[in-house]
Amino acid sequence: MLHHPGVVSGAPLNPTLSLVSEWLRLLPFLGVLALLGYLAVRPFLPKKKQQKDSLINLKIQKENPKVVNEINIEDLCITKGYCRCWRSKTFPVCDGSHNKHNELTGDNVGPLILKKKEV
Ligand code: FES
Repeated sequence: MLHHPGVVSGAPLNPTLSLVSEWLRLLPFLGVLALLGYLAVRPFLPKKKQQKDSLINLKIQKENPKVVNEINIEDLCITKGYCRCWRSKTFPVCDGSHNKHNELTGDNVGPLILKKKEV
């Protein structure tokens, strides 16, 4: 029977090297497992919520690419307040919804008030 020095019944010289090589063989499997775990958790990550929080217009004319309101100065016969908080249910005219918004958020927005000069 032929014996190599340091090898006991077929075991490698350094048992630590054997253990490392076994872990290295598991690497592709662990990589796939990590990828699957990430894909499963990704829908619950808070990224989308941050984008939603940064919106100013939450519900007014969302079907339009841009909300534009035009007011003819000749039609302005009385003093009128125009919404700047984007919470008015009568947008673009202020309905006082900015008060609730300010109370909830600590913001300080208010309407743009247009007045016709009296002659
Ligand atoms: S409701 Fe928006 S400013 Fe008054």
